[in-house]
Amino acid sequence: IRFFFPRLEDTLAVIKPNGMEQHREEILQEIRAGEFSIMQQKEAVLSRELAEEFYREHRDKPFFSQLVDFMCRGPCLMLVLTKENAVEEWRAMMGPTDPSEARQAAPDSLRARFARDVLENSVHGSSNAQHARQKIDFIFGEIGEENEGNVEREMGS
Ligand code: PPS
Repeated sequence: IRFFFPRLEDTLAVIKPNGMEQHREEILQEIRAGEFSIMQQKEAVLSRELAEEFYREHRDKPFFSQLVDFMCRGPCLMLVLTKENAVEEWRAMMGPTDPSEARQAAPDSLRARFARDVLENSVHGSSNAQHARQKIDFIFGEIGEENEGNVEREMGS
C-alpha cells in the first residue's frame, strides 16, 4: 500500500493595520474558507525596529519609511498558515500588491476588496517558501522573546 502525504507548506500572513481596523473578520473568514490551518498567531503593534527589520529588503526603496510608519500605526495580526502549496495559495487569495491592478486582474481577491492603495493594501504574504521560513522564525522568535521577558518581569514583580 502506498500512502500519499500531501506536502504541507507554511507561509506567513499578516493582516496589516488597515485590514485590522476594518476587515479583520472578513479576512479571517476567507482564510478559514480557503482551508488553511492557522498553526500560530500573534496580535501585536510592531515596534519601528521590528518593522524595519521585517522589511529590510526594501530599505532602499523610496516608500520604506512610509511603509514602516504604516505598519506600526496599530495592531497587526500575524499568522502561520499551513496547507499544501500555502505560499502560492495565499498570494493568489491576496491578489496583486496594488489594488487598482487587483481589481482588474483578481476582483475577488482580498486586496481588490479591502486595500485602499499600494501602501495600505490590507494583507502581507511571503513571496516564497524560504522567505516564509525566515520571516516566521523572525516574527515568532522576536515577539516570543518579548513575551518571555514580560512573563519574567511579571513573575519577578
Ligand atoms: S517588490 O519590489 O516587487 O518586492 O515590491 P512589492 O512586492 O510590490 O512590494 C513590497 C512591499 O512594499 C509595499 N509597497 C509600497 N508601499 C508604499 N508605497 C509604494 N509605492 C509601494 N510599493 C510597494 C507593498 O505593499 C509591499 O508590502 P508587502 O507587505 O510585502 O505586501
